[in-house]
Amino acid sequence: TKPFLIAPSILSADFARLGEEVQAVLDAGADVVHFDVMDNHYVPNLSFGPMVCQALKNYGITAPIDVHLMVSPVDGMIESFIQAGADIITFHPEATQHIDRSLQLIKDGGAKCGLVFNPATPLHYLDHTIDKIDQILIMSVNPGFGGQKFIESTLPKLRAVRQRINDSGRDIRLEIDGGVNVDNIAAIAEAGADMFVAGSAIFNQPDYRAVIDAMRNRLAA
Ligand code: DX5
Ligand code: ZN
Repeated sequence: TKPFLIAPSILSADFARLGEEVQAVLDAGADVVHFDVMDNHYVPNLSFGPMVCQALKNYGITAPIDVHLMVSPVDGMIESFIQAGADIITFHPEATQHIDRSLQLIKDGGAKCGLVFNPATPLHYLDHTIDKIDQILIMSVNPGFGGQKFIESTLPKLRAVRQRINDSGRDIRLEIDGGVNVDNIAAIAEAGADMFVAGSAIFNQPDYRAVIDAMRNRLAA
């Protein structure tokens, strides 16, 4: 397993050319496709759903698809994304009635599962779930939109989560999402993240490889 994973958020891609855009970031060295699902209910924006995930698979995308569910209710969308071939599914614990049931639905479907924490969501949701999850996603912006500014209080929160993962002895990815760019990625890694979502920082530049290479250089330094 790679020490660091770069996961472009396709929320900032050109939707009219989505297949080509996803292939382009993968060819440019991305590891995972971050797929932001918004329902205009849990978050005040609307993006794309399971049919688009299926379309990317049919187009020939073989890299893992990391589905970030910003929806409520959660369980129906889990079932649809399992059918659509999602490889990883994460959801916000406060958006579902029964957290363990939702996690189990993902695992039963054969995907990796994880919980997402907004900037002010408390970490106690890990108390009875850490033995079950494959991934923890820490939001460094309030969910709903790409292109927001990284919230600095996320760094101590990441450190606390990294400690909990290490204490658990389990192999859990620690993903960060929101406002990640070449300039702050090293500090974010230093705080404990090992999977980096970046939307606008990658897709708003003409040369995706240049941005991804620059991020990897900062991570190696
Ligand atoms: C926000 C999404 C993020 C977002 C990241 O709700 O979960 O994945 O698209 O975009 P940037 O990297 O532009 O902050
Ligand atoms: Zn996301």
